[in-house]
Amino acid sequence: MKLFLDSAIVKDILPRVKSGLISGVTTNPTLIKKSGRDPLDVYRELSHDVSDISMEVVAQDLPQFIDESLKLSDYFGDIATIKVPCTDIGLKTCKYLANRGIRVNVTLVFSSSQAILAALAGATYVSPFVGRMDDNSLNGLGLIADISNIFQKHKVDTQILAASIRDTQSVARAFGLGANICTIPVKVFDGMSQHVLTDKGLDQFDHDYMASVKN
Ligand code: G3P
Repeated sequence: MKLFLDSAIVKDILPRVKSGLISGVTTNPTLIKKSGRDPLDVYRELSHDVSDISMEVVAQDLPQFIDESLKLSDYFGDIATIKVPCTDIGLKTCKYLANRGIRVNVTLVFSSSQAILAALAGATYVSPFVGRMDDNSLNGLGLIADISNIFQKHKVDTQILAASIRDTQSVARAFGLGANICTIPVKVFDGMSQHVLTDKGLDQFDHDYMASVKN
């Protein structure tokens, strides 16, 4: 069970990574755009503190996909997880990279059949988009359960990386249904430690402690 941060804002990521509770970071072109930074600058800054960064490749054809992936992998080494879309070219790229021992995250997954192909292509991670399925009246967490059943039955090594998670309850439910990793926005990570009864209990304990300390 691991948590990744789904963000490209270095100043938000680093303090939370230092908590020791975060095992990786996932980025995508939209998150990079929101950061206002060049993707390579974001990866470089994170690379000192984060040991697993999903870096999405955007390309037009297979040779370009492979070329861009290898450039990232050569430059960042084992820190780089190459992120490719679950398309025909993306899966071919995945197979090529996996055969060379490079970690691949197959992203934009919305069905069990896509997850099966990603696993057969040797993906390290398959990323079903829970929130975007729910946005489209599909059962995002149901897909996590379906993929988990298939992977367990067939002893598949590919890890389920639940993505597009927008609330703390979905994190717990995704893990409960068999996700290996949840990648979450910093707001969701921060929310995970919060509980109104914790705050209330702590106020009482603080008050009682002060009342019982003699000196
Ligand atoms: O990393 C991809 C995924 O987590 C995107 O989430 O909220 O844009 O659907 P969202």
